[in-house]
Amino acid sequence: MKKDSPGAKVIYARYFLPTLTDLAMRNRELSRLRAQWIARARGEVLEIGIGSGLNLPYYSSEVRHIYGIDPSAELQRLARKRLHSVAVPVDFLLQSAGQPVPLPEESIDTVVVTWALCSIEDPARALLQARRVLKPAGQLIFIEHGRAPEAGVRRWQSRLTPAWKHIAGGCHLDRKVDDLIAGAGFQIAELSTSYLSGPRLLTFMYRGIANRGPSAPVDCGEAAGRRPG
Ligand SMILES: C[S@@+](CC[C@H](N)C(=O)[O-])C[C@H]1O[C@@H](n2cnc3c(N)ncnc32)[C@H](O)[C@@H]1O
Repeated sequence: MKKDSPGAKVIYARYFLPTLTDLAMRNRELSRLRAQWIARARGEVLEIGIGSGLNLPYYSSEVRHIYGIDPSAELQRLARKRLHSVAVPVDFLLQSAGQPVPLPEESIDTVVVTWALCSIEDPARALLQARRVLKPAGQLIFIEHGRAPEAGVRRWQSRLTPAWKHIAGGCHLDRKVDDLIAGAGFQIAELSTSYLSGPRLLTFMYRGIANRGPSAPVDCGEAAGRRPG
């Protein structure tokens, strides 16, 4: 093999995983949750891990602008194909949500994160970044899968995560989503948890709304950046 030719892992991650992710995330139950929760977004929106843009059709006319962060250029390309389904401007930021977000402090009304906290390498850092740019009266809307309530299911989630994350784009099965969100300083205002249909390892869902929380803005150690053009 030539020194600079991509290996099988790179080819899988670049060419197959984005299409598989897009297909997997399009099922009817997930769409129902998107319709229910994304409709509550308002004003300036920051979507973390926007992926292939499957939330775009569900934003209401109360939204003025969407910033979508995702490090996958391939998923971003798929998301651009869905721009016709949303009436407001969308700017894509091709980066990890754990890196400094180039938006001013307290400039965002709604942060949206759906099925991405499982995949983000450092979700705590990404949430701190999101909180930094959220206005004091802003809200975080989340729909995520994560750690199950039953000890037996949890054990298997933890056992399988090291292998699963290699084939599923870094996805962790066993993250406790409400604790991650609260740990970043957010105050959870609404939380529903339940299984969807399918394997219990994958289908325990956390969805809800969190407020920014009362404490002082979190210092992520980076200056607030400019808005992307
Ligand atoms: C299962 S997909 C969900 C995509 C989309 N949120 C949805 O609801 O269909 C997980 C997403 O997290 C993104 N992701 C992974 N690491 C990330 C990071 N460090 N920062 C932001 N997004 C990340 C992936 O590229 C992918 O788009």
